[in-house]
Amino acid sequence: MTEMLKVSVWRSKGDDERGSFAAYDVPRAPSQTVLDVVTYIQRRLDPTLSYRFACRVGMCGSCAMTVNGRARWTCRTHVETVARDGVLEIAPLSNLPVVKDLVTDMRTFFDKWAGAKGQFKGTATRHDDFARVDPQSAARKAANAGIECIGCGVCYASCDVVTWRPAFLGPAALNRAWTLANDVRDVNQKERLQAVAGDAGCHVCHTQGSCSERCPKRIEPTAGIAGLKLLTAKAAIRGEL
Ligand code: SF4
Ligand code: SF4
Ligand code: FES
Repeated sequence: MTEMLKVSVWRSKGDDERGSFAAYDVPRAPSQTVLDVVTYIQRRLDPTLSYRFACRVGMCGSCAMTVNGRARWTCRTHVETVARDGVLEIAPLSNLPVVKDLVTDMRTFFDKWAGAKGQFKGTATRHDDFARVDPQSAARKAANAGIECIGCGVCYASCDVVTWRPAFLGPAALNRAWTLANDVRDVNQKERLQAVAGDAGCHVCHTQGSCSERCPKRIEPTAGIAGLKLLTAKAAIRGEL
């Protein structure tokens, strides 16, 4: 007899945040991921279920959900690592508005990247030679450590300071700011430090590290935020903020 999973999935009611969990039975399969389970439900059991994914290989960052109480990327999370006693509870990410079912509205999340001056600003033109940045330099290593962020929102959904203070820029935006603060080609450094030094910026972080613990790309936003705290403190002492 086929082994079955007991799956509870958050379903919206109406257009606001209301909803409740609905129960589904899903057959187990070899190497099954949580995204496979959600896809099975939508394709075989209830086509009205809304969820988001694109690449299925851990590149696009669009499939993150709350799985058994914890934010995770679902396309790279195997059921066998998270289903206790064959039970899965799947909900949308925390700290973001729900559009429908498992789909969250990511606008605030990405607006905060802009708020942290997360855009690169250089001076080179197409007529200039490539910039040469020593791969062994401390700044290059610091930038590289955070550059592989896929914008999945797992860290943001796991941050209790975002929950308490919704204006907080959050770990992903600050990680992005840190990579740019270490980019020697970028000319927007003063504005960026001003942006991340404010009431909603790096100094609000309590350094407990849920973001670093849960990031599926093994990025450590906590380390970058500590770096920003130091840079902004030095800039303040120099009277630049
Ligand atoms: S270490 Fe800071 S940014 Fe990371 S989860 Fe905790 S409060 Fe949020
Ligand atoms: S820092 Fe990690 S958890 Fe946060 S958005 Fe980027 S990849 Fe996702
Ligand atoms: S579907 Fe792209 S990261 Fe999961």
